[in-house]
Amino acid sequence: MRLGAVLLGGLMLAGAGPAAADDPAAGRKVANMCRTCHGLDGLAQIPIAPNIGGEPEEYLEAQLMAFKTGAREHEMMSVVAAGLSAQQISDVAAWYASHSASARLPEGVSESDAPAACVSCHGADGIAEFPDAPNLAGEVNIYIDTQLKAFRSGKRVHDIMSDIAAEMSDEEIRAVADWYGAVTLEIEMSE
Ligand code: HEC
Ligand code: HEC
Repeated sequence: MRLGAVLLGGLMLAGAGPAAADDPAAGRKVANMCRTCHGLDGLAQIPIAPNIGGEPEEYLEAQLMAFKTGAREHEMMSVVAAGLSAQQISDVAAWYASHSASARLPEGVSESDAPAACVSCHGADGIAEFPDAPNLAGEVNIYIDTQLKAFRSGKRVHDIMSDIAAEMSDEEIRAVADWYGAVTLEIEMSE
């Protein structure tokens, strides 16, 4: 009886409800499911996957939950996220967030050349200034282009980004995508 109650208690803890404290070491194991596309350190291994190492934990967790609930859709990520529990999502977000990302602008340009409309949140070099905003540094320009067009068309929705993208032409989108895509990203793994 007592054992049953303990097991049941354990299952309830692992199930729905607010996630327990995140555990980057447990997240490292979950990341084995991600590494063929995102690397174990979060440096993308395939051109269509974004870099996620050293991104704010809050942002990573929110995106994984959005794929899981269907608020954000992608043929690969919706399937991946559907198979993860809320706890695994917290853990794997903590793992990828535990690395540190740094960025270097290409030769011949300076921070003052960065797209003025983006720097307050994404930085001149694409390292985010806020925990709910993603890094853009070194993402493939086509990825950035696709996400901005998704915000513009309403396929992806966000208070701030939907309004910003709504005002942008294809040429403006291409120019900012090229700016952040030209930045060199380095990720230093935490362990
Ligand atoms: C088969 C390849 C593949 C696997 C495996 C995979 N991903 Fe992804 N992931 C992608 C692609 C492609 C995207 C871009 C989705 C889009 O275009 O909206 C993405 C997007 C993401 C994003 C959004 C990043 C951003 O900047 O908005 C997060 C977070 C993420 N993946 C985390 C994970 C985690 C954690 C795992 C493992 C549990 C994982 N992914 C497994 C391919 C993959
Ligand atoms: C006031 C803050 C703010 C400004 C200004 C801003 N962004 Fe964002 N951006 C965000 C936030 C917050 C998100 C996360 C959206 C979400 O949760 O889906 C985001 C997401 C994005 C994404 C998705 C990245 C990914 O990894 O999937 C791209 C691309 C992007 N922004 C580009 C831009 C560009 C280009 C500009 C300038 C034209 C810009 N943003 C201006 C706050 C901002």
